[in-house]
Amino acid sequence: MLVITTNSNLKTFLNSLSKNENLGLVPTMGALHKGHLSLVEKAKKENHLVMVSIFVNPTQFNNKEDLEKYPSTLEKDIALLKTISDKIVVFAPSVNEIYQNKVVTKKYNFKGLDTVMEGEFRDDHFNGVGTIVELLLNLIKPTNAYFGEKDFQQLQIIKKLIEIKNIPVSIIGCPIVREPHGLAMSSRNERLSKQTRIEASFIYETLKTAKEKFGTKSALKVKDWVTKTFHNNDTFELEYIEISNIKTLKPVKRKQTGEKYRAFIAVYADNVRLIDNIALN
Ligand code: PAJ
Repeated sequence: MLVITTNSNLKTFLNSLSKNENLGLVPTMGALHKGHLSLVEKAKKENHLVMVSIFVNPTQFNNKEDLEKYPSTLEKDIALLKTISDKIVVFAPSVNEIYQNKVVTKKYNFKGLDTVMEGEFRDDHFNGVGTIVELLLNLIKPTNAYFGEKDFQQLQIIKKLIEIKNIPVSIIGCPIVREPHGLAMSSRNERLSKQTRIEASFIYETLKTAKEKFGTKSALKVKDWVTKTFHNNDTFELEYIEISNIKTLKPVKRKQTGEKYRAFIAVYADNVRLIDNIALN
């Protein structure tokens, strides 16, 4: 399996590709799990060649401890990707290679998509995501790039990024992959105790009931119900529950016909921050 770590080797490799072959890019921060692999599988079906980038991007971490604790498991990641195909190409550069010794976060105007939910609780996070994704798309110039709906807000912001920066790539959203009992797969799940990880099905169960309630109740009532439900639970601490329009991500109080909504949630358990979301209609 080809593993590229420098910009110059990346350039040489990209120059060797035929112009009429589609390249699918799956950007990741490593510590791969079945959620990431589902994106790789989809990219493999839809492109001649798949590249997976593995790069823990310092500019998107608002919390230093979170960055330091982020797992680095390159050998294991490569072995997992090999189970799909050894023709997948891995791009795993160092921080210096990517940022050329100047770790600077660019500023973007994401038209309010970045000020709600994750943006409200993680200062500058989406400017950091924009910085690295713009950089990777410009370096690699893929035909298609794959992102998970697990980070639905990130997906919508990346669609906005390519619109404002005029980047010629198709952004493909992929459904959330869950553990058998419903917890959305995440590298962070490894940091939960065995017991909390089992109990964490509570998050998805609550979202599913919220969806049911949204059929007959206002967004405000549903949010109140979720808040109360978490209040009565000692293991999980609710950071936010929001019901938003999927295009603007603006929180809504009452639904309008013809519009689509999602519920978004962030929860702390065992000092680990977990996020999830569900389509409501
Ligand atoms: P990371 O958290 O490693 O996730 C890489 C991609 O996998 C993202 O598009 C994410 O939404 C997707 N993903 C993660 N868990 C998933 C799940 N359970 N089901 C479906 N998709 C899932 O997101 C990032 O990295 C970074 O912000 C990145 C875009 C790479 C920029 O640094």
